[in-house]
Parts: sequence; C-alpha cells; structure tokens
Amino acid sequence: MTHAVCPGSFDPPTLGHLDIIARAARLFDTVTVAVLVNPNKTGLFDTAERLELLRTTTAGWANVSVDSFHGLLVDYCRRRHISAIVKGLRAVSDFDYELQMAQMNSGLADVDTLFIPTSPEHSFLSSSLVKQVASYGGDVSALLPPEVNAALRRKLPTPLPERP
Ligand code: PNS
Repeated sequence: MTHAVCPGSFDPPTLGHLDIIARAARLFDTVTVAVLVNPNKTGLFDTAERLELLRTTTAGWANVSVDSFHGLLVDYCRRRHISAIVKGLRAVSDFDYELQMAQMNSGLADVDTLFIPTSPEHSFLSSSLVKQVASYGGDVSALLPPEVNAALRRKLPTPLPERP
C-alpha cells in the first residue's frame, strides 16, 4: 500500500489545495491531509475548523483522510508509516524553499517529496492572498470550495462601504 501525506497550514483550504489532494489521491493508495498545529502562529481558522473544512471538502474521495500534527513532519511520517510527502508547486519562486525542505526532510528520515505542478488557473492562489482580498470585501468565491467561502464570509466582519 502506498501512503502519502499532503501537509500544510490550510488556513483556509483553497481550490489549489484540493487540486493537489485530488491528484495525489489518484497516484497513491491512501492520502492523509495533515494540518500543521503551530502554537506560535494563530491563524484565522483554528485547527478544528480547518480539519472540519478539509473533511467536508475531501469527503468525495474514499482514500483521503484528514489529520493534524505538530512538531516535525518527518516524525509524523515515521509514526504513520508514510513514505512520501506531496507538495504543490505554483511557480519557480516556490521551488527554492520547497527544495530545501524536501532535502532536509529526506536527510532527517527516509521520506521522499514529490512535487505536483499546480494547475495554471491556481498558480497565483494562496490562502493568505485569499484572506487579504476577502478582508477588503473582494469576491474570492471562484477560488474556494463553497463551504470554505461561506465559512470565510462568516469569519470576516462585513467590510465598511467605500467613502464617496
Ligand atoms: O501550507 P504551508 O504553511 O506552506 O505548509 C508548510 C508545512 C506545514 C508543510 C511545513 O512548514 C512543515 O512541514 N512544518 C512542520 C515542521 C517541520 O517539519 N519543519 C521542517 C521542515 S524541513
């Protein structure tokens, strides 16, 4: 059985994340989407909310499950007997840091990283940009699963109307 992990912050999950998860689910027998619990960084959504959003939006894929982890990703991989990390690459600018992490992770443990290029329509998409645009009242509904868009709208205060 091949088992891969799609790790991330997922604050919140976007259509870009789901595209990578779906493609990983076609390549591996089992895929675990693992949300990093970072006690030093408070996000917009807490861990329980991120897990719930991921569970809802990945419910259609029988071989995908959702979990959280803290500490080193390689330790989580060891505990769960996971031998592959799957990451999406949006652009060349992602590559430097992703390569460093991949090499560090494979040095720390026997875990390989596979990069999947994101679909071109998601190459500019990030959770932080989505939050920023939404916080100013921009429409991000085309970039998010409907459940995530609704949750984001509930989180953010209604933007003030523009001054004339
Ligand atoms: O969605 P993100 O924030 O880009 O995900 C980054 C993540 C969670 C994959 C990365 O920060 C990570 O693996 N953190 C766990 C701590 C760890 O293992 N650090 C060493 C990486 S070489």
